[in-house]
Amino acid sequence: MTTNSQADGHSRTDPALLTTPFSSRARADEVIAGVDLIGRRAVVTGGASGLGAETVRALAAAGAEVTIATRRPDVAEPLVRKPAAVGGAGTVHAEALDLSDLTSVAAFVRAWRGPLDILVANAGIMALPTRTLTPFGWEMQLATNYLGHFALVTGLHTALRDAGSARVVVVSSGAHQGAPFDFEDPHFERRPYDPWAAYGQSKSADILLAVGARRWAADGITANALNPGYILTGLQRHLDDDTMRAFGVMDDEGDVKPLPYYKTPEQGAATSVLLAASPLLEGVTGRYFEDNQEARITWEYEGEPGRVAAHALDPEAADRLWEYGTDALRTA
Ligand SMILES: NC(=O)c1ccc[n+]([C@@H]2O[C@H](COP(=O)([O-])OP(=O)(O)OC[C@H]3O[C@@H](n4cnc5c(N)ncnc54)[C@H](OP(=O)(O)O)[C@@H]3O)[C@@H](O)[C@H]2O)c1
Repeated sequence: MTTNSQADGHSRTDPALLTTPFSSRARADEVIAGVDLIGRRAVVTGGASGLGAETVRALAAAGAEVTIATRRPDVAEPLVRKPAAVGGAGTVHAEALDLSDLTSVAAFVRAWRGPLDILVANAGIMALPTRTLTPFGWEMQLATNYLGHFALVTGLHTALRDAGSARVVVVSSGAHQGAPFDFEDPHFERRPYDPWAAYGQSKSADILLAVGARRWAADGITANALNPGYILTGLQRHLDDDTMRAFGVMDDEGDVKPLPYYKTPEQGAATSVLLAASPLLEGVTGRYFEDNQEARITWEYEGEPGRVAAHALDPEAADRLWEYGTDALRTA
């Protein structure tokens, strides 16, 4: 058992946290070395770039048949065309998917045939500077990062069940810590829009999605969420130079360089791949990981790495959000 301190000075006891032998610097290929995924089928959203591409490489190198679900299948061409670059016995192909468009999600689900062993909900957007809405009137970060993935995961439930022991992996972020899901105003209709609150809220929702999926345990489906750490990717595209400088990743000349604690994309994809395919995660569900370890729960906003906010693991909030998501999809 692990003991955490609360704001009131009392301690609270957590169930034992799952640990693995892998450091925060382990690469995606290292955390599943020796794992055979031949005959396993995987979907990776946003798999054409950044952490998604490294997730695709590692799963395919271990033998999986990987589908990249992407807005721009042409961008995935290098991964699709050169399976040799991926190595191993796996295959890679790309299908169109725009998570912010329910019609596109429904088309992807309709076209899917057969069982699905691994679904990595990786795609995401961060800190859109102005409040942007989808045609359904949904705030764009919530729509892309959470609602689109909720539609995809629930739409593929039968395929996941048919795999017998499927795994859902939801890529969240440490930004969830400061932003619980706001059931009263999820789309910023009555509160002022804040790019980071919107991102953080969507990432809390992502963790709650994994917790809510515990209802599928009898189908052999497990679901876990993670924070990949800090990695320079396309994700920072909406940040202006002042913000990049404030983060310490842009110098006076405008050159962008990672800070020492930043990971490479190969390292950033490791926790996703660990949750997707490592035998160490067999049967584990509804939990949150960072740096290849299960994170410690915090009841107050610390903003520290290696922590998961209690609000994001709350089973009641997860069930309420599942109902919210179901209603949102029905009425869209
Ligand atoms: N990088 C970090 O430091 C960091 C930290 C914490 C969490 N994360 C999380 O890690 C995940 C991967 O991000 P990344 O760093 O690899 O960034 P990235 O390189 O920008 O990748 C994000 C992917 O999401 C896809 N995407 C965006 N909107 C989409 C939509 N509407 N429909 C389908 N796909 C869409 C993008 O595809 P397009 O090519 O079509 O745009 C892209 O492939 C995200 O969920 C992010 O929140 C990253």
